[in-house]
Amino acid sequence: MAVVALKALKDIWKNVPPNWVGTDPCGNAWDGISCSNNRVVSITLVSVNLSGQLSSDIEGLSELQTLISDECSDRDLSYNKGLTGPLPSAIGNLKKLSSLILVGCGFSGPIPPSIGSLQELVYLSLNSNNFVGEIPPSIGNLSNLYWLDLADNKLSGIIPVSNGSTPGLDMLVNAKHFHFGRNQFSGEIPSQLFSSSLILIHLLLENNQLSGSIPSTLGLVQTLEIVRLDKNSLSGSVPRNLNNLTSVQALFLANNDFTGPLPNLTGMNLLSYMDMSNNSFDPTDIPLWFSSLESLTTLIMENTHIRGQLPVSLFSPFQLQTVILKNNRINGTLNIGSTYSSQLQLIDLQNNLIDGFTQRAGYNVQIILVNNPICDEGGTENYCNIPQNTTPSYSTPPRNCTPISCSSDKISSPTCKCAYPYTGTLVFRAPSFSNFGNSTVFASLQQKMMDTFQSHGQPVDSVFLSNPVKNIYNYLELNLQIFPSGHDFFNRTGITGIGFMLSNQTFKPPPGFGPFYFIGNNYPYFAGLTSGSHKSSSTSVIIGAAVGGSILVILLLLAGVYAFCQKRRAETAAKKSDPFASWDPNTESGGVPQLKGARCFPFEELKRCTNNFNEINAIGTGGYGKVYRGTLPNRQVVAIKRAQHGSTQGGLEFKTEIEFLSRVHHKNVVSLVGFCFDQGEQMLVYEYITNGSLKDSLMGISGISLDWMRRLRIALGAAKGLHYLHDLANPPIIHRDIKSNNILLDERLNAKVADFGLSKLMGEPEKGHVTTQVKGTMGYLDPEYYMTLQLTEKSDVYSFGVLLFELLTARSPIEKGKYIVAVVKDAMDKTKDMYNLQAILDPIVASNMAPRSVEKFVDLALRCVQELGVDRPTMSEVVKEVEIIMEMAGLNPNAESSSTSESYEGKSKEFDHPYTNESLDFAYSGVYSPARLEPK
Ligand SMILES: *[C@@H]1O[C@H](CO)[C@@H](O)[C@H](O)[C@H]1NC(C)=O
Ligand SMILES: *[C@@H]1O[C@H](CO)[C@@H](O)[C@H](O)[C@H]1NC(C)=O
Ligand SMILES: *[C@@H]1O[C@H](CO)[C@@H](O)[C@H](O)[C@H]1NC(C)=O
Repeated sequence: MAVVALKALKDIWKNVPPNWVGTDPCGNAWDGISCSNNRVVSITLVSVNLSGQLSSDIEGLSELQTLISDECSDRDLSYNKGLTGPLPSAIGNLKKLSSLILVGCGFSGPIPPSIGSLQELVYLSLNSNNFVGEIPPSIGNLSNLYWLDLADNKLSGIIPVSNGSTPGLDMLVNAKHFHFGRNQFSGEIPSQLFSSSLILIHLLLENNQLSGSIPSTLGLVQTLEIVRLDKNSLSGSVPRNLNNLTSVQALFLANNDFTGPLPNLTGMNLLSYMDMSNNSFDPTDIPLWFSSLESLTTLIMENTHIRGQLPVSLFSPFQLQTVILKNNRINGTLNIGSTYSSQLQLIDLQNNLIDGFTQRAGYNVQIILVNNPICDEGGTENYCNIPQNTTPSYSTPPRNCTPISCSSDKISSPTCKCAYPYTGTLVFRAPSFSNFGNSTVFASLQQKMMDTFQSHGQPVDSVFLSNPVKNIYNYLELNLQIFPSGHDFFNRTGITGIGFMLSNQTFKPPPGFGPFYFIGNNYPYFAGLTSGSHKSSSTSVIIGAAVGGSILVILLLLAGVYAFCQKRRAETAAKKSDPFASWDPNTESGGVPQLKGARCFPFEELKRCTNNFNEINAIGTGGYGKVYRGTLPNRQVVAIKRAQHGSTQGGLEFKTEIEFLSRVHHKNVVSLVGFCFDQGEQMLVYEYITNGSLKDSLMGISGISLDWMRRLRIALGAAKGLHYLHDLANPPIIHRDIKSNNILLDERLNAKVADFGLSKLMGEPEKGHVTTQVKGTMGYLDPEYYMTLQLTEKSDVYSFGVLLFELLTARSPIEKGKYIVAVVKDAMDKTKDMYNLQAILDPIVASNMAPRSVEKFVDLALRCVQELGVDRPTMSEVVKEVEIIMEMAGLNPNAESSSTSESYEGKSKEFDHPYTNESLDFAYSGVYSPARLEPK
């Protein structure tokens, strides 16, 4: 069977991952390749020193049908130039491309104008290469573009704007990020670039050769949060309407030739970081509005011709950290008063005319008055010396443990384990703070990063941040070490996933850090490559830092373009190379199952994605075997149910089982992602549900608190799921094991019924509805079924009734030898308010404002646990009843749950977000869910 598509890339590129072998990039889980429905949707290669040219790759893509090889590409150890050469014009043919991220490679030559035909492009990052020439005006056609990063290249010419026939960047009305710093752009900033229809939040034009004045239209882009125009040749006066930009947090105008009056920034109440140094403003007395900027952390105005005495109030903004007013004509006596900001760290007033200083005991602020009259007479006070660098530098402290000394290249992690970390440099282009010694700030960065990795299932144990410094471009650089969990090294999948999150902004730093990029170092410690026997492949991985930086991310989102897996399946469905081939049609009469959406996983893939079924990943155990959490190469997190030996069933039954599970699709039922029937294993792969079981929440283990409203919603969701299984699924499914452990809660606390069909997996053939062995869990078991062995839907209704009692009381069905149903019945007095059950009810329920709804709920629960099945309601009746109860409690049963589990912890997404006006959704849409790539 032919390897169709990626083979071509593989043969042209050097140093592709060594597991790019075999016939099916999706099924064989090639590193760096993500698939959705067996289509390649992305290629992500991080820190692997891929090299070669992209031009031939793209040519190759159009010939993918025929290029075939099973050999790994030539491993020429001297070839280490990274991806070089121009970006080929043919890139314009990848019409489905929505993210193109080529960061820190060795690309040169111009950006091809054909890029403007990539209509789906949302995310374009070409920063840190050697691109030359002009910005193609055609980029203006990318109406979906959200992120445009061309920084750190050798681009020149003007910034193109539209003019009748030619497009321009002013047309990018959906863009929020223009990052053009560190190039050689020249000419004026076109006034047409800005209008009130833009929603730009980051405008980064620093370190170019732009001239002329700032167009006053800039003041129309009210969404702006960060404006960097520093290090250009801009001149003229700063437009007076600049202070219309009231969302701006960081404003850099330094190192230009501005003249005229000092801009009046009154009203920019979010402004935190301001640098206007080295301009030729008219000499001005220190403006009073300095002190009115409440959010100010950093005021830098070197050599700006300001004069007069500093007012005491200047030091009062409560977040103020740094004041640098060197080389001005400030005179009089310096008095910082007694109510200065507690975060104040540095006041640098070198080379001014200050002749006095009102000193108070206990100042904890570094003050520099060198080259002022007060120091000119040979003063020896501290403030008359340039201090040696005394700022405490941050580094992540060990987490309640003692660092250990490690052998070889291993490093002791913050959790004091020896491992090979993935290292690199984080660069923040416009932080709005300047105290780089504040551990709180970096601890929150670290926490946010851990949270992001963990919520995306990355195998990260801890992160270590150190040595924050401001570089010559006024960027904050920070060393980053990321430590693996489970093993002492990362595999390629791990590095890919982490690099991806740090490159496409899936990881968003806390507020104040601003836009960033990540330059990763080579990672030579991949699993299995450290042993001597794989010397050559190991070396080929290690060699050669890519030119222009050492991270290399290629993310081509090719959804729909390379449907080769699909195609191949259609062509050769029954052939040996098919992923289902392990399903031997000779011994099992069934052949290939008829599946709806469920995928066949090779055993090796599931083994890999659970770290060889590592105990760390085990999330549940039962008679049938264990459930593991795993992360597929496409980053989807899944729950893998692995039948233990002895619990497996015949191939035919397993096949029937899967066929029937793959037809089950309901929003209140956990859906099957795929299965594995390979090497004697039988596994079912389900979607992973974030918030765990209802049991965990009721027991207070998950930390999610469930008020009455939520419990009603969960009851309704679970009832609907069960109703679906009973009445709408074909054939109908009797769950047989309804209990709070089997009701899972997703991120919005929607209930999902899990674990149906489990008993079948346990190898028990089912004839009609009569079973030979009673299955279920004590406490939930229908007594009628237990006595008669007659299994009906009503047995599930009974268990559901017990579940309702659990929701009411948050108690286990059998606690201290007492059965919950009996306990409730005994205590109940229908003549009293809430049936006199306050003492038994969970306090959250007992304190509820709609006691009638609780009573109705108790009535319903009691009906469900009637002794005889015929007396119990059907699930469809239960659904209706719960809806009525919800209405009584003032809830709209048809409304989708809007709150997330997060809101319980009091976290608001807005608050979490570094760029206040930006929708959080985008970042998570990456390749994980191509369907959501429409920009907002
Ligand atoms: C700055 O602008 C504010 C409001 O627009 C105004 O009240 C104030 O007088 C101005 N200050 C100077 C120094 O021009
Ligand atoms: C400080 O400078 C201002 C403006 O140049 C001037 O008016 C004032 O007299 C000076 N004050 C002192 C104490 O020298
Ligand atoms: C560090 O930053 C936090 C949060 O911004 C702030 O509350 C705290 O006062 C700062 N600490 C110092 C010593 O500046």
